[in-house]
Amino acid sequence: MHNSDAFNPEVFRQQAHAVVDLLADYLQKVQEAPATEPVLPWTPPHEMLQRWTSDFDQARDPQGLIRDVIAGSNHLHHPHYVGHQVTSPLPLSAVFNLVSSLLNNGSAVYEMGNVSSAMERRALQWMARRLGFDDKADGVLTSGGSAGNLTALLAARQAKAGFDVWQNGQDAGRPLTLLVSDQAHYCIKRAVQIMGWGEAGVVLVPSDARYRLDPNRLEEKFHEAEASGRQVIAVVGSACSTATGAIDPLQKIADFAERHKLWFHVDGAHGASFVLSAKLREKFVGIERADSVVWDAHKMLLTPALITAVIFRNGRHSYESFAQKATYLFGDEQARLENWYDVGMRTLECTKNMMGFILYASLASYGEGFFAQYVQDMADLAQEFAHMIDEAPDFELATPPEANIVCFRYLGQGVAEKDLDALQERVRSRVVTSGAFYLVQTRLRGGLFLRTTLINPETNEEHLHELLRALRQA
Ligand SMILES: Cc1ncc(COP(=O)(O)O)c(C=O)c1O
Repeated sequence: MHNSDAFNPEVFRQQAHAVVDLLADYLQKVQEAPATEPVLPWTPPHEMLQRWTSDFDQARDPQGLIRDVIAGSNHLHHPHYVGHQVTSPLPLSAVFNLVSSLLNNGSAVYEMGNVSSAMERRALQWMARRLGFDDKADGVLTSGGSAGNLTALLAARQAKAGFDVWQNGQDAGRPLTLLVSDQAHYCIKRAVQIMGWGEAGVVLVPSDARYRLDPNRLEEKFHEAEASGRQVIAVVGSACSTATGAIDPLQKIADFAERHKLWFHVDGAHGASFVLSAKLREKFVGIERADSVVWDAHKMLLTPALITAVIFRNGRHSYESFAQKATYLFGDEQARLENWYDVGMRTLECTKNMMGFILYASLASYGEGFFAQYVQDMADLAQEFAHMIDEAPDFELATPPEANIVCFRYLGQGVAEKDLDALQERVRSRVVTSGAFYLVQTRLRGGLFLRTTLINPETNEEHLHELLRALRQA
């Protein structure tokens, strides 16, 4: 090997200490000087590409490289970060990520991830209890909500199709379909199309005036799909939805699923963490009747990406997502069911990082009360922000927020309705490229709206007043 220092513990100690110092200085800078530090130091993609060459002939100083990465990145810990649903991770959780990376006990089989597999099970048991499931619940951690929803829907297919799709293929029975609100995250449709159900594999159920699935339209959509020759096997609720944070009427969807013996899946990638708040829990009544729930820790549990829980009310279904056998890894059928600890037989991944450890350690280090308070604070801040927008004559709220996502638009003064979309694009682009704030946009009924997710615990009311001022100025 050229570089004899690469595995030298003392060199590692010095390098890693220096990196932690850089990161701590960075956190201090973005937290303390929000008005002067840009959130996203905007660089057009082609310029960014020029900055990074593919010339690896000469070794580079890693400190300098990390400095450049930090300086050029989107600063999620900046209090003016109110963009997508990617959290500003707990700094200590980032340290857990480092531990995971160094130990690298990826946990397809117990022997390759023993501690993390046990921690994964314990974290999942805690989540299952918080959802209202009993001891029969079980699940896995996987790499993101998109993979999580696919994992849950694969189990739904195996449990409800009435034929063995793994063995005999998709054409061995009637074409399959699921029902989901027109506000669901695009990964649901993607999962359906990955499974080979085609475009008609998803039937969109219209949402109501507040962007929640309209339960009164479920029967009609179900019968339409069945009449067209398709077999409806599942219904998916969003809790909450991505665009506006709307929470679907879970209890009513559960009744409908029960009536038609459908699989009931809840995409709680963003919203499931709100069950930790006693005040918000009632909005999720019915989630305990779901067959499966997806819950992202890297959204509202403040862990670094990616850690997603897929939790099955009846834990045996957890073994049906990937019914395929890999006997060299997991042994025979009976052993499969007993080997909860060979987690890879139930996940899309073979190797994964030590997500069980990262999640468990984050929960253990801060305690449940900390996370319950955090989700409540973010939901309260969203209510405050909505109130501020309601009070401002030149802004319009898209819909009252239910979680921590607030959508609104700038009306300006005397701007014609037909020009409002262009106005949102223009003000957002100016605010984002100036580095003042990071927010996103979404198309809703009535046009284009600005969209904020209040996910950074450092963001407060004063920052949100400042956001409205920045938008006016832009
Ligand atoms: C409701 C919902 N489901 C799924 C996803 C996808 O999750 P991930 O980005 O972890 O794949 C998102 C992402 O924002 C989401 O909001």
